[in-house]
Amino acid sequence: MKWPLPATFFLLAASGWAAGDGADWEAVTAVCGKCHTTAIFEGKPRSWDRWNDVFAEMTQHGANGTTEQLMRVTRYFLENLTLVNMNTSAAEEIAGVLGVSDEVAATIVERRQKQRFNSIADLRAISGIDAAKLEQRKSRISF
Ligand code: HEC
Repeated sequence: MKWPLPATFFLLAASGWAAGDGADWEAVTAVCGKCHTTAIFEGKPRSWDRWNDVFAEMTQHGANGTTEQLMRVTRYFLENLTLVNMNTSAAEEIAGVLGVSDEVAATIVERRQKQRFNSIADLRAISGIDAAKLEQRKSRISF
């Protein structure tokens, strides 16, 4: 399997695996820690488009892994290192960054077409949002 993985494929296939059990990070260290340390990107969030450019570039350098590893890496980057804008980013990116289902992400996209989001408080009002994840990830969310 080659980078970049289509986000929809990732969502379908990875939604069955528990997130946050450490296996996603293990996949990151296995796939992305081969040629340089993970310190090169730890704590340095970027937009999803920019990460996809990085994945494509690293593939050219020779980065690879099993399909499961690449999907876990994809999820890790979305959940921990990706910046989103609630009024412009794609539903898949919102689902990944907020750690919510496709349905909740679709609700957010529908709602912003009628009324833009201006704050974390606006988001908290959406049913299905995990308040603890939102609090933890709010520095990566813009409006
Ligand atoms: C086969 C070796 C190899 C693997 C595996 C690899 N990289 Fe790299 N990476 C490089 C090389 C070589 C450079 C320096 C040259 C460059 O910047 O393209 C680099 C540079 C980088 C940079 C700094 C450049 C930038 O765009 O900011 C980042 C970030 C990065 N890698 C992320 C990753 C991630 C994420 C993964 C796992 C998906 C990964 N790398 C896997 C070889 C690798």
